[in-house]
Amino acid sequence: MKTAITEMFGIDYPIVQGGMHYVGFAEMAAAVSNAGGLGFITGLTQGTPEKLANEIARCRDMTDKPFGVNITFLPTFAKVDYPGIVHTVIEGGVTVVETAGNNPKEIMPYLKDAGIKVIHKCTSVRHALKAQEIGCDVVSVDGFECGGHPGEDDVPNMILLPRAAAELDIPFIASGGMANGRSLVAALALGAQGINMGTRFVATRDAPVHDNVKNGIVAATELDTRIILRPFRNTERVLTNAAVERVVQKEKELGDSITFDDIKPEVAGVYPKVMVEGDMDAGAWSCGMVVGLIDDIPTCEELITRTIAEARDIIANRLAPLA
Ligand SMILES: Cc1cc2nc3c(=O)[nH]c(=O)nc-3n(C[C@H](O)[C@H](O)[C@H](O)COP(=O)(O)O)c2cc1C
Repeated sequence: MKTAITEMFGIDYPIVQGGMHYVGFAEMAAAVSNAGGLGFITGLTQGTPEKLANEIARCRDMTDKPFGVNITFLPTFAKVDYPGIVHTVIEGGVTVVETAGNNPKEIMPYLKDAGIKVIHKCTSVRHALKAQEIGCDVVSVDGFECGGHPGEDDVPNMILLPRAAAELDIPFIASGGMANGRSLVAALALGAQGINMGTRFVATRDAPVHDNVKNGIVAATELDTRIILRPFRNTERVLTNAAVERVVQKEKELGDSITFDDIKPEVAGVYPKVMVEGDMDAGAWSCGMVVGLIDDIPTCEELITRTIAEARDIIANRLAPLA
């Protein structure tokens, strides 16, 4: 299946795995890329440029297909060595970077000089236009239903994607709520050139996370995510659990007077506990409404192959006869 995305990145299918904290290790990125999609290592999870260099090398041992590195610019608790990360990505011969959070204006010259393609993930048309203006090659348009940080505008993909299609000159991929062949066909119909999936890839056999997380995603429904951190203008969609319900309650009770310290126990240092130890009540972790569409734990190969087969079937047998 050829689109502007497959052509630009030299991949078989227009399916991308977005960066995911404590999920996007070499095993995850390589499995997606080996299955014909585009996998991403999550740069910040590695902690230091040295460890990231090692992770890039490990991924290269696992696949000879293209893969990328996600660089997230978000408020974090630890100070991040961004120049070191960018240097490592360039030295490591990575050909594509996914940026998220703030726009990547400051690192663009270094990435472009190195011939690296940049996909910027953003949650509004104005941010997508800004990304286009500063030279990003692709935008990943993340609707309100997405796992992680949907921004502060709350526009779902049914509106956001056609708005992006109307305004952008560069290609874009649809992110948030994508799970299967129906999602892919819908995204293409709404103007995207491919899809980005997060939560769906966590519930795969290849994802290097605890089985409790995968089983939790399969068990959850579309009613089980919550929006938190809005008072901090750092809104995040997470899977509900006891800790998340405490955060929701504190945000309600404390209103404008809430401080980060009030919720620190529920949001700081959570990912290793959930993803590595499988402690599902440890705190808040990103998860999309798409959990409602996930009811199995396939390999990435099975997931991508069946997504493409389903999409082809819908296009040929349901849509083409309507034309
Ligand atoms: C567990 C998890 C961790 C995530 N961590 C990051 C991250 O560190 N950086 C980032 O840019 N996006 C992160 N995301 C967002 C994904 O890359 C992707 O944009 C999002 O999951 C798409 O929505 P979906 O979950 O509905 O597919 C994360 C998502 C999940 C589910």
